[in-house]
Amino acid sequence: MTQQVYVWDRFVRVFHWSLVLLFVTSYLSGEEEHWIHVYSGYTIIALVVMRVIWGFVGSRYARFANFAYSPRTVLSYIRSMVAGDPRRFLGHNPAAGAMVLALLAALSLTTLSGLKLYAVEEGKGPLAVDMRFEVVAQAHANGDREEHDEEEDDEEAEEFWEDLHETGVNALLLLIVLHISGVAVSSRLHRESLVKAMITGEKDELIQS
Ligand code: HEM
Ligand code: HEM
Repeated sequence: MTQQVYVWDRFVRVFHWSLVLLFVTSYLSGEEEHWIHVYSGYTIIALVVMRVIWGFVGSRYARFANFAYSPRTVLSYIRSMVAGDPRRFLGHNPAAGAMVLALLAALSLTTLSGLKLYAVEEGKGPLAVDMRFEVVAQAHANGDREEHDEEEDDEEAEEFWEDLHETGVNALLLLIVLHISGVAVSSRLHRESLVKAMITGEKDELIQS
């Protein structure tokens, strides 16, 4: 007999599907500086911050302590997956746990570099405030510098943050492909729908792999 276990709490589920929608929105609106891009990005930052807090105070399977494993455990789990015989976990398995941490790190890199780019390129957003301080400090320090040198510096800074933002986006795309493949492979090997579990929050307690 199988019993349903409540695994993913409401916060985790709302967080996940909002993140998916916002990621697609941010990705599609990135070509031009547009309020939709900026506000979907801000919302992602808020979600990531809340998820990190939830990782310490949330329900059992939402806590980092439940799914942060050592690199050795992650590697041996990936080997068992490749061999087609992984152990089943009710929460995130070790590979999925590492993926969650990597996704949160890549989301942070992308959104923070986006904020900085928005400040350098448009002089807008929360980081535009310390930009003004930087400009004033630089003007004091280099009173005799030519104006076009400063323009060159601005262009270099813009290029730097733009490259970092794009690197973050590419890392996210790669991780998301691996994430969705991992979900598909795991669901198949354990004959269960992990996507359904992320919608209802429930899993069967006794499924044999
Ligand atoms: C439609 C495509 C997607 C599907 C079907 C999907 C499905 C899932 C599933 C089933 C889980 C639970 C994994 C497990 O059982 O261990 C999960 C977790 C997660 N996914 Fe996705 N995902 C998708 C897209 C994305 C995207 C685009 C992102 C990031 C931008 C993302 C980020 C995450 C994160 C951070 C978690 C961990 C949830 C938590 O513990 O808070 N997913 N996803
Ligand atoms: C996960 C969230 C985000 C994703 C997926 C994303 C994605 C992108 C993409 C694909 C581009 C186009 C890059 C190119 O032209 O090659 C872009 C550009 C840009 N992003 Fe983001 N971004 C995110 C978050 C943010 C945030 C939080 C901000 C800050 C407000 C931001 C600010 C910008 C700016 C200023 C540009 C340059 C727009 C232009 O003038 O062409 N992004 N982003």
